[in-house]
Amino acid sequence: MKDMLERLEERRAQARLGGGEKRIEAQHARGKLTARERIELLLDKSSFEEFDMFVEHRSTDFGMDKAKIPGDGVVTGWGTVNGRTVFVFAKDFTVFGGSLSEAHAQKITKIQDMALKMRAPIVGLFDAGGARIQEGVAALGGYGEVFKRNVIASGVIPQISVIMGPCAGGDVYSPAMTDFIFMVRDRSYMFVTGPDVVKTVTNETVTSEELGGAKVHTTKSSVADGAYDNDVEALLQVRRLIDFLPANNMDGVPEIPSFDDPNRPDESLDTLIPDNPNKPYDMKELILKVVDEGDFFEIQEAYAKNIITGFGRIEGRTVGFVANQPMVLAGVLDSDASRKAARFVRFCDAFNIPIVTFEDVPGFLPGTAQEYGGLIKHGAKLLFAYSEATVPLVTVITRKAFGGAYDVMASKHIGGDINYAWPTAQIAVMGAKGAVEIIFRGDIGDADKIAARTKEYEDRFMSPFVAAERGYIDEVIMPHSTRRRIARALAMLRHKETERPWKKHDNIPL
Ligand code: HXC
Repeated sequence: MKDMLERLEERRAQARLGGGEKRIEAQHARGKLTARERIELLLDKSSFEEFDMFVEHRSTDFGMDKAKIPGDGVVTGWGTVNGRTVFVFAKDFTVFGGSLSEAHAQKITKIQDMALKMRAPIVGLFDAGGARIQEGVAALGGYGEVFKRNVIASGVIPQISVIMGPCAGGDVYSPAMTDFIFMVRDRSYMFVTGPDVVKTVTNETVTSEELGGAKVHTTKSSVADGAYDNDVEALLQVRRLIDFLPANNMDGVPEIPSFDDPNRPDESLDTLIPDNPNKPYDMKELILKVVDEGDFFEIQEAYAKNIITGFGRIEGRTVGFVANQPMVLAGVLDSDASRKAARFVRFCDAFNIPIVTFEDVPGFLPGTAQEYGGLIKHGAKLLFAYSEATVPLVTVITRKAFGGAYDVMASKHIGGDINYAWPTAQIAVMGAKGAVEIIFRGDIGDADKIAARTKEYEDRFMSPFVAAERGYIDEVIMPHSTRRRIARALAMLRHKETERPWKKHDNIPL
C-alpha cells in the first residue's frame, strides 16, 4: 500500500513538471510563469482541484508514440476566487508548445461542460502554438468541440480569456467567442496567421508584436478588453473582475458589504460642468465619485475613449456604467464607440447587471469615413442593445443630449426606467449655432441677428425643461445628489419585470 502511495506521489510530481525543468526555466527566462504557477495566482490559496493530470495524447505519427507527457499541454480543474467557484484551464507551453491535440481538447471540453453544468464562470489562460501539427484533423475536430461549447455557454456563464504568450491559428477563435479577453504586454500576441504567412500572402513585413500584440488589440482592433504589464498583474485583475460578475445568468449580481454611504453627497459635482459648453471635463470623475469606494473596473479603456464602459458598485451590488467622455472627440458617438458600448450593454443585460448611463453627447460623428465604415449599422448596434435590454436602466444627462444620440443613450423612449437630468442638461435636436444656420438658411442675417437668434434657440431648447415638461425626464436633479438618486432608483428597480414577445432570437445588425 505504502508503495502505491509513493508511486502516486512520484507520478504526480512527474506530471507537475510538465515539459521538464529546462523548458520551465526557458518559460521563466521569457518573463512568463508556468501554467500551474498562473493557476495558483488566479485562484484562492490551495483551492485548486486538478483533473486529468495523467491524460496523454493517443497519436502515433511522426514518432509521437515515444513522446508522451502526462497532462498533454493543458492544466485543468476548478477552485475558488474569493470563495466563489471558478473553472479554469491553462495551456502549458512547456509541453508541445501548449498545442492542442484531441486528448488536450477533451480535457478542455470536460471543464467547459462542468462549468456550464455548475453554472460557474470559466477562465482560459492561453500560451500555445495552435493545433498539434502532428495530429492533423483530430486537432481541428477538437477545436470545433471547444468552439461549440463556447457558444452554448455564451450568455449563461461568464467566460474570460487571458492571453499570456503566443495565441495563433485555432487558439484565437475560442477566446474571440468569450466575454472578455485580457493580454499581457510585450509577451503575448494573437493572430489568425503569423508574420511568415502574412509575408508570403500579402508581402507585408511585420513582427508578431506589430501584427497582434496587446497594443494592437486594445487600441486598434478592439479584440482585447485590457492589457497588463505581466502575468501577476493580469491574474490579479481577472480576480478583481470576477468579483464584479454574477456566477451565471440566473443568480443575479453578487452583493458585498459596502461601507460607503449611498446617501453620500458630493458637492464638487455641482461645479463639474464648465460654464463654456464647448469646454471638456472628465466624465470619469463623475463615475469615480458615484460608485462605492471609488472602485471602477474599466473595460476597453484604451479603445474608443470617447465612450467609457465598466463595472462599479452601488450599495455593494454590481452596476454596469456607460458614459460619454467629453474629453475625447467631445464625447461624440462614432462606429467604434457604438460597437464598444453595444457589446458591453449586451453583456450586462445577459447577466442581469443594471446599467447606469451618463450622457453628454453632441451627436453621431459626421463624415465619409464614418458613413463608408457603416456608422448606420454600428450606431444601430447600440440603439438595438439598449432597446432590447430588460435590466434596470438609469440615465443621467449631465450636459448635451443632441439628435439621434439622445434617443440612443438609454432614453425614456427606448426603455430607460429612470431618466434624470442635471440643470446643465441641453436636450435638443442639435447645438444652437447649427440649428440657427439651418432654420434661417435663406436669411442668416448679420452677426447681431445671428447672436440674437442663437440666444433665442438656447433659451428655449438648451435646457432640460422642454424634455421635463413632456415627462421624458423624470426629474431634474442636483449634481451633488447623483449617487443618492441612482442608489434609490436602483433599489426601486431591483425586481423589475418586463414581458417581451417570444422569439427564437433577435437579429441585431452585425
Ligand atoms: C506541435 C508545437 C507546436 C504545434 C510549437 N510546438 N507549436 N508542437 N504543434 N503547433 C513545439 C515546438 O516544436 C517546440 O518543441 C516547443 O513547442 C516550443 O516551440 P518553439 O518554436 O521552440 O517556441 P517559440 O520559438 O517560442 O515559438 C512559439 C511559436 C512557434 C510561435 C508558437 O512554435 C510556432 O510558430 N508554432 C507553430 C504555430 C502554428 O503554425 N500552429 C498551427 C496553427 S494552424 P520542443 O520539443 O523543441 O520544445 C491551427 C489550425 C486550427 O491552429 C484552426 C481551427 C479553426
